[in-house]
Amino acid sequence: MSTLGSAAAAGTLSGSLASRLKLVGAAESSLRDLAAQKGLIYGCSTAPDYLIPGPKSNPAFGRLLAQQCGMVVPENALNWSFVESSPGKFDFHLGDILESFAKAHNMKFGNGVLVWGVGTPAWFNSLSPGQARQAMLNHVTQTVSHYRGRTFSWEVVNEAKAWRGEGTGDLKDTPFLRLVGPDYIEASFRAAAAADPGALLFYNDNHLEYDNPEDDFGRTTLLKILKGLIAKKVPIGALGIQSHLRTGNVPFSGGKLKDFLSQVADLGLKIIISELDVTEKGPETQLADRDVAVARELERYLGVVLQERAVIAVITWGLSARYTWLSAYAPRADGQPLRPLPYDSDLQPTAAWQALATAFERAPAR
Ligand code: XIL
Repeated sequence: MSTLGSAAAAGTLSGSLASRLKLVGAAESSLRDLAAQKGLIYGCSTAPDYLIPGPKSNPAFGRLLAQQCGMVVPENALNWSFVESSPGKFDFHLGDILESFAKAHNMKFGNGVLVWGVGTPAWFNSLSPGQARQAMLNHVTQTVSHYRGRTFSWEVVNEAKAWRGEGTGDLKDTPFLRLVGPDYIEASFRAAAAADPGALLFYNDNHLEYDNPEDDFGRTTLLKILKGLIAKKVPIGALGIQSHLRTGNVPFSGGKLKDFLSQVADLGLKIIISELDVTEKGPETQLADRDVAVARELERYLGVVLQERAVIAVITWGLSARYTWLSAYAPRADGQPLRPLPYDSDLQPTAAWQALATAFERAPAR
């Protein structure tokens, strides 16, 4: 089915079909501008490889990214295991590619992750507790200092809160908790703030979006963690909500989500939608139906989220289905290409593009 065909299918959702088709058709129309009109940032994560000469080079993708995005964030390029693969030897060339791309196209650069169990190099796990604290603080300090004054924001800690039913504490069992201790979150934020007082520092996590026991637990636990940090005057400026959404009628409560967001805002924190994409878990098999399901999921989520004025940015986890982590992590059983992002694998806009555009159009101005 053509792009306009799938957009037309999504068009049954809201507003007039003509205005949405006009949006897709208008070459000058970009998510970047639609978001900016409301004082919002729209951006995406990417690997640097597509943006530079080399085997994975994709100039059309680079042009699209620069046209559509007001911010670029590293998908993996600043993971600890990439920048310090052996202790004390730092290599920022991958992050630097993204930072210069952003600068060349007048985009923000940010959201590199500093402390995350999954992105940690293997050598960290064999350190003594004293060495581990030192290594963690050194990693934060070196990395943040390298980009001092050149980055909008840092994802200081990712995925620290416990899963429901796992242990009794609020924090997940990670190498940081085991080796550094429960104050590893605040210690990382303080080191990051000392290295670049101008960057927006945020805590990032998942399982905060839906109306099920895991996410109820997530919201309650995270509010506890955030309140604890703020009580200790930890220099945290925002919360990142990953927002890996899924179709298939997952129970959703706009009221619970709204309440959670306003409690976060009341703590004085901004909110970043940090890794938005949609995994298809519904029964749909036809492209048009699949696109409607994805667009609906985005519209119901962003319709609530963007009402909260503390939300400053929407970052999708990738821009095109050509490069999405979901191809490996959550492929469709029928093997059809995924449609989780604003552009399909041929770099044509999808119904998700429409859903984002509509959500930005309807958002109150910041
Ligand atoms: C994913 C990347 O997209 C993949 O390329 C990588 O192999 C694994 O990590 N939550 C996060 C992100 O916080 O960092 C993850 O990114 C997706 C889930």
